[in-house]
Amino acid sequence: MGEAQVTVRALSASSGPAAVAVINTAAEWYAEFLPPSEVHEQEMTLETWADEARRMTWYGAFDGVDLVGVMGLEYAGDAVLLRHAYVLPGRQRQGIAAILRDRLEREVNGVGRIIVGTYAANYKARAALEKAGYQPSPDPGAVLRRYYDIPEDRLQSSVIYEKHLDRDQ
Ligand SMILES: CC(C)(COP(=O)(O)OP(=O)(O)OC[C@H]1O[C@@H](n2cnc3c(N)ncnc32)[C@H](O)[C@@H]1OP(=O)(O)O)[C@@H](O)C(=O)NCCC(=O)NCCS
Repeated sequence: MGEAQVTVRALSASSGPAAVAVINTAAEWYAEFLPPSEVHEQEMTLETWADEARRMTWYGAFDGVDLVGVMGLEYAGDAVLLRHAYVLPGRQRQGIAAILRDRLEREVNGVGRIIVGTYAANYKARAALEKAGYQPSPDPGAVLRRYYDIPEDRLQSSVIYEKHLDRDQ
């Protein structure tokens, strides 16, 4: 598929409602593989989005004025985490997540380790990460406990991918 024409920029608070709409629309797909008890009516509230903005930087991919995808970059000690990747269903498979990921990787400064966690069943995210050169972490449990604030029972259903940059060291 041809590469989408989008521009990427860091998001400010005023983009919160549009970002939450993208996230919640894209996350409806989780119902296809998550047990019903883990499916939330809303993946993210505006309040959580704003809380997240205090610990990480949200980026958005825009087609004109329309926000079509989001991704977050969080510094965590000796690593950075790529978090909350969501692209509107009607705009998926057009390279938008790849454009966002490339941009965020280029923003990374001062650390060489990029970490991404996702559901083990999330074949879309896993394929995207593998295509981009990420490798499954040899010790996902340790990475999840150290870098992610997730309950123990989620450890089983999660996988971790890593990429090591050989620049900015
Ligand atoms: C995961 C997600 C962000 C990918 O966004 P996207 O813009 O469609 O991804 P891209 O177009 O950049 O795809 C890059 C690669 O990912 C893989 N990929 C993406 N969607 C895929 C699918 N439906 N099936 C298989 N592989 C897929 C492919 O390798 C693809 O490359 P290709 O199109 O050249 O084969 C999107 O599917 C999404 O929003 N999913 C719901 C939310 C989610 O799962 N977020 C991830 C949280 S970690």
